[in-house]
Amino acid sequence: MTSSLKWWQTAVFYQIYPRSFADGNGDGVGDVKGILEKLDYLKDLGIDALWLSPHFPSPNRDWGYDISDYQNVAPEYGTLDDFKTFLSESHRRGIRVILDLVLNHTSDQHPWFLESRSSRDNPKADWYVWKDSAPNNWQSCFDGDAWTYAPERGQYYYHYFMKQQPDLNWRNPQVKQAMWDAARFWLDLGADGFRLDAIGTIYEDPNLTPHNVPMNLAELRRAADLAQTPAEKKKIEKYWHDMFKNQWGGPGLHDLMKELRAILKEYDGDRMLVGEDDNIDYLGNGNDELQMVFNFPLMRTERLTPDHIRRNQKERLTRLDALPIKGWPCNTLGNHDCSRVHTRFGNKVHDAELARVNLALMLTLRGTPFLYNGEEIGMTDLIITDPARLRDTMATWYYDRLVHELNVDPAEAALRAGEMTRDKNRTPMQWSNQPNGGFSPADVETWLPVNPNYAEGINVKDQEKNPTSLLRYYKHLLHLRKNTPALIDGEYLPLHNTARDYFAFLRKNDLQTILVVLNYSPDHLDLDFSRGKELKGKSLRLLFSSADRPAKDANPKAVVIGAYEVFIAEVQ
Ligand code: GLC
Repeated sequence: MTSSLKWWQTAVFYQIYPRSFADGNGDGVGDVKGILEKLDYLKDLGIDALWLSPHFPSPNRDWGYDISDYQNVAPEYGTLDDFKTFLSESHRRGIRVILDLVLNHTSDQHPWFLESRSSRDNPKADWYVWKDSAPNNWQSCFDGDAWTYAPERGQYYYHYFMKQQPDLNWRNPQVKQAMWDAARFWLDLGADGFRLDAIGTIYEDPNLTPHNVPMNLAELRRAADLAQTPAEKKKIEKYWHDMFKNQWGGPGLHDLMKELRAILKEYDGDRMLVGEDDNIDYLGNGNDELQMVFNFPLMRTERLTPDHIRRNQKERLTRLDALPIKGWPCNTLGNHDCSRVHTRFGNKVHDAELARVNLALMLTLRGTPFLYNGEEIGMTDLIITDPARLRDTMATWYYDRLVHELNVDPAEAALRAGEMTRDKNRTPMQWSNQPNGGFSPADVETWLPVNPNYAEGINVKDQEKNPTSLLRYYKHLLHLRKNTPALIDGEYLPLHNTARDYFAFLRKNDLQTILVVLNYSPDHLDLDFSRGKELKGKSLRLLFSSADRPAKDANPKAVVIGAYEVFIAEVQ
C-alpha cells in the first residue's frame, strides 16, 4: 500500500538547474528569487520534490559543480536568507527539496585547496591528492591530463574532472569531517536529502595502474565523433571504459556511504540520498547506504525501443528484487548533462508524439521518476555554432584541441563542440512568447542564448492556455499517477514480450490492476490481451488515452491502439 511507502518512493522529482530556471532580478541568470516565484507553477504542475543542482558559491568553471564554499549561496543566486525562504515556501506547499552534494572535488579557489596548494607542510597539505611527479597517464574526463603541476609545492595534484576541480583526499579523516559538517549544515536548515554527484570517482585504484588506451582524451573524443559502423562505435565504447576504469570505484565507497547515511538517520523526516551512479551495490543492505541510484542504463541507448526498455526492466528489477531489502528503482531520461529527451529520443518526424509516450513511460514504470526542467514544455537542444558563446568549459577545451592540435577545420570544430557541449540542454527556461522567452527582460543578454523556438509555442504561458499542449498533458498524467496507487506501488508484469512496436505491461497491487500500452510506432495496433491470466474474462475501464477515443469500457480481446498512443486502463 502506498501509505506504507516513504515520501521519496511516492514522489515525482523535478530537477531545477538554477542558472537557467527563472531569473527573478532580470540580470540574465536564474536565481533563488526566480525559483520562489515559480513554486506555485511547480505545485500546479503536480511534482512533489525538487532536486536543485548546485546553488553554492562557485567560480563557475563547471557551473556550480566546482564549489568554493559549501555552506553558502552563490551571490548571483541570492542570500542564505533567500534560500531559507525558498526552503520553507517549498515545504509549505508540500514540496520536498534535495540538494546537490559534490563530494569528489572542490573548486581550485576553495580556501581548502588554496591552503593545501600553498606549501607541502600546511595543515591542509594532505587534503588533496598530491604526488611529486605525474605517476601515470590518467586523463581528466573534461580536459586532458589528470595531473596538474602546482609550482608553489613543486608537485602535481590529481583531478578526475577539470584542473579547476581538484580531487579531495577522502582517506584523510579531516576531509570527511569537513564535508560532513557541510552536509549537516543543510540538513539542519531542513534540506530533505542530497543527490550525490559523481560518487564513483571518489576513490581511485590505489595502485595507480595506468590505462592502456592508445590515445589521449582529445583524440578519443575525435575518434568517437568519427566512428560510423557499429564495430567502430563498440571499440570506442571500450576505449572510454578502459581509459577511466582505474579512476573509478576504488575501495572504500561503501563505508563512506554508510557514514553519510548514518548522519542522515540522526535527522527526522526520512532524509534521503540518491547517487549519480547506476551501481545497485550502493544500496547496501537496503537500509545502510543510499536509498536510490539512477537507472542510467535505460537512457544509455541511441533509440528507446520497447525491446530495450523490456530488457532493461528485466535486468534491473531482477537485481533490485534480489537485494535483502528490495531495492527501489529510480528512472530518468534526461538531466543537465545530456541531450534533452525531446531531441534525443525523438526520431525527427514524431518527436512530439514520442515525448508524450516517454513521459508516460517515466510515470508508469516501477520506481521514482526524475524529470528535468523544461522537458514539460518540450524544450529541445539548441546547437550553439559560435564557439565564443559556449559556456561549458569542456566544450571550449575540445574546440581548442580540435583546431590547434588535431588540425580540424574551425567550422567543423565549432559544430562538433556545439553538439557535444552540455550548453545545448541548459538554455534558459522558456516562460512566455515575449523576447528572451520571458526568462529575462528583452534588453538583457542571458547567460546562454534562449532557444528561439520560444516564439513557436514552446513556452509555459502559451501551453497553459492550450488544452492539447504538452504542458497540459504533463499535468494530466502527473495527476493520474498520483490518483492511481498501483502505478506507484504495484508490481510490474510485462506482457507481449516479443512485441517490437509497443510496450505493454501491468502494474498490480492488492486493490488494482492497471494495463499500460505505449505504442512506439506510427501504426495502428489490434491487440489481444485476453489470454493472460490477469486479464482473462475481465473488462478494461479507460483511465487515460492520448488519442481521441470514447471513454468507454474495452474488451481485452480487441484493444485498438492508435499511432503513438498512450493507453492506460484499469482491469475490472
Ligand atoms: C556530475 C555532474 C556534472 C559535473 C560533474 C563534475 O557528473 O552532473 O554536471 O560536471 O559531475 O562535478
